[in-house]
Amino acid sequence: MIRIEDLKKRFDDKWVTKGVSLEIPDGQTTCIIGQSGEGKSVLLKQIIGLIKPTSGKIYVNNIDITVLSDRELNKYFKEVGYVFQFAALLDSLNVFENVGITLIEEGVPVKKVLAIVKEKLQLVNLEEDTLYKYPSELSGGMRKRVGLARTLVTNPKIILYDEPTTGLDPITSQIIHDLMYDMQKRLALTSVVVTHDLKMFNYSDNVALLSGGKIRYYGDAKTIWESDNPYIYQFIRGLPEGPIETEIIHFKDKY
Ligand SMILES: Nc1ncnc2c1ncn2[C@@H]1O[C@H](COP(=O)(O)OP(=O)(O)OP(=O)(O)O)[C@@H](O)[C@H]1O
Ligand SMILES: [Mg+2]
Repeated sequence: MIRIEDLKKRFDDKWVTKGVSLEIPDGQTTCIIGQSGEGKSVLLKQIIGLIKPTSGKIYVNNIDITVLSDRELNKYFKEVGYVFQFAALLDSLNVFENVGITLIEEGVPVKKVLAIVKEKLQLVNLEEDTLYKYPSELSGGMRKRVGLARTLVTNPKIILYDEPTTGLDPITSQIIHDLMYDMQKRLALTSVVVTHDLKMFNYSDNVALLSGGKIRYYGDAKTIWESDNPYIYQFIRGLPEGPIETEIIHFKDKY
């Protein structure tokens, strides 16, 4: 289980995370939603240990990861997979190298790396002939899948996804969602998914809404459309009026 307690993060004089408390259950999919710039990526990066919080605690399987040394963090990175918001593939490396890079750097024999990379590509439904292609030769959906395969290389039990379907057409998004769902069940993963794609509710157990630097709603994904929590009601319907402050642009005044 991931237990976040009163997490706060400040960049210079700007508070982004303002006291987030959240429990993320094992073996389930929890989706985190919220407006652009709310600090969803910053929250994920704190859970993975890439950003140190200003204060607060994050317990992963009862270990406080906010106090780990660099060496301990390196070990932790292998237990928790992180799928970047923009696939973050290295353009000068082919798919095989991109997926296998951690193992190659560790000095695992190339033959063994190749076998593992092939297995992971199969898990994300990519054909073997993509092995020696470069990121520029792949579609957006394929790149996302390569990013996912790279995350799977260390056999993590927890996977954090940052906007896995943003920028993809509805059909490719559905394919990625099905794939994430299938992997979550097959590998008994704990998944945390930051997304703007409300279809993700169909694939999630829980939903948390981040607004004003805090969690304003946490509940069952299946009943979310019935909720009368004013924050979630406003957000999922995209209403300008409500407790979530929005920037209203008067186009008539502008032009
Ligand atoms: N390393 C950093 N240094 C300073 N400010 C940062 C840093 N990373 C993020 N921020 C700021 O924190 C705020 C939240 O950013 P974040 O990327 O987490 O938003 P988000 O909710 O993921 O948005 P989006 O939905 O657009 O991806 C932004 O104002 C951003 O400028
Ligand atoms: Mg983000």
